[in-house]
Amino acid sequence: MSILVPTMGALHKGHQALIKRARSMSREVVVSIFINPLQFENAEDIEKYPRSPERDIQLATLAGATEIWMPDYEEIYPGEITKIRASSIGDLYEGASRPGHFDGVVTVVNRLFEIVKPEAAVFGEKDFQQLQIIRAMESSVEIVGVPTVREYDGLAISSRNVQLSDKGRASANVIYRAMAAARLAPTVAIAQKIIDTTISTDAGFKCDYAVIIDEGDFSLAIDVTKHKRAIIAGWIDGVRLIDNMRMGA
Ligand code: PAF
Repeated sequence: MSILVPTMGALHKGHQALIKRARSMSREVVVSIFINPLQFENAEDIEKYPRSPERDIQLATLAGATEIWMPDYEEIYPGEITKIRASSIGDLYEGASRPGHFDGVVTVVNRLFEIVKPEAAVFGEKDFQQLQIIRAMESSVEIVGVPTVREYDGLAISSRNVQLSDKGRASANVIYRAMAAARLAPTVAIAQKIIDTTISTDAGFKCDYAVIIDEGDFSLAIDVTKHKRAIIAGWIDGVRLIDNMRMGA
């Protein structure tokens, strides 16, 4: 059975963890590398997106990929594009900051599934809202989520981290520190206060959202009993960072 690991390239340890997980489930692991224009808000962002195809091939192969597939635009979108709408949580949080983004993600994931016909596909929990939206898609492909890989200081590994200045990089783990400190708080109100206070100590972090939500429908949590998650996004040095962590023991 083949397993698909969809990526947009610029691979790092986080992607390698996805590929290793796929390889632990199957001998056939297809890694797709396609920068999907439909999920970007503007042409400049697509242009700026990092590209490192040779290194990607090396990293994917080392992690256990058996096929690296780099389709071109026509292969993914021949003729007119049939856009697919993301589920209703696609309008919240990341979706509110980046209108249309999740519609672009589900449209391309659907096309990748149509072409590769994998039995399963692996995605990172780092983009937790994306993972839940893909889980809500109509499809027979099993969706596997893999925990976020972190730097030594807790910062979630992301291809954007290299864009941070030294000062920005030094404080970027504020997001992780806020969530880790709040994780075992007895109530949502206390957890939220810990998150807000921790974040406010870092003048360089411009917060977009920092909330505790229900993992199913992304409604604001009213208790921290089960399946509740802190989700945080914001900017340091103009670089957008996002992260999340399950709350509770
Ligand atoms: O997470 C990503 O890299 C992309 O959103 C994905 C899932 C490969 C779709 O383009």
